Amino acid sequence: MLQLHAVFKSYRQGRQTIDALRGVDLAIDEPGFFAVMGPSGSGKSTLLHLAAGLDRPDRGRVVVDGQDLSNMGDGQLTLFRRRRVGIVFQKFNLIPTLSAAQNVALPARLDHRPSSWIRQRVAELLESLGLTDRAEHRPDALSGGEQQRVAIARALVFSPKLLLADEPTGSLDSANSDRLWTLLGDLAKRHAMTVVMVTHEAAAASHCERIYVLGDGVFRGSFDVNGLDHASVATRYQQLGR
Ligand SMILES: Nc1ncnc2c1ncn2[C@@H]1O[C@H](COP(=O)(O)OP(=O)(O)O)[C@@H](O)[C@H]1O
Ligand SMILES: [Mg+2]
Repeated sequence: MLQLHAVFKSYRQGRQTIDALRGVDLAIDEPGFFAVMGPSGSGKSTLLHLAAGLDRPDRGRVVVDGQDLSNMGDGQLTLFRRRRVGIVFQKFNLIPTLSAAQNVALPARLDHRPSSWIRQRVAELLESLGLTDRAEHRPDALSGGEQQRVAIARALVFSPKLLLADEPTGSLDSANSDRLWTLLGDLAKRHAMTVVMVTHEAAAASHCERIYVLGDGVFRGSFDVNGLDHASVATRYQQLGR
């Protein structure tokens, strides 16, 4: 579903060059709920942005659902981003002046879908994420957990096979975080979708099936969670991280 082949990405900052990814090889091929774990600055967000087609690698290939993003022109990449992959962020990135329903509908409006199709799809998604009675609320009238569920609904409008989540519980309290991790796992199962969550927390990653470890812009290895508790996940992670 998601393959990175020898992916390099640097950022220029004034006279300095920061090597965010330094030759990452990584493949997540089956449906399920997976974590990419690494400390702050290890390149996790960069990796997710490349997978979502929000940015391009300097070198190497990013392949999503069999499609090589490096072969796509800008127009094709825009459509890929909108239709083929979903992404959610720590800060939700909802439009503050739009209602929950209008936020969810936005990608479909940009894609010129018929209004009847949009109405039905939005209603379906709000219902399945327990947001039906929040449809007309603006983001500032919603809890953090509700806002993140709206963002997830928006990411699922076109039923992507790959859902990416960048520290999705970074702005939530622990009860809402737990609920969100469970939801992401359920969505992966229910829709046979590959959900990739980036996190630096063992508590988050231990909800996933397998953990891929990133350190200093390099893929360090992976391990199966298989019922490991937080402490054991943290230990395995530290062993791979160094
Ligand atoms: N747009 C950018 N401009 C300059 N440096 C960046 C930019 N984005 C990320 N970086 C740098 O690249 C490295 C990896 O960042 P990032 O992928 O955000 O890591 P993580 O998400 O694991 O914290 C960091 O050193 C960060 O400061
Ligand atoms: Mg990040």
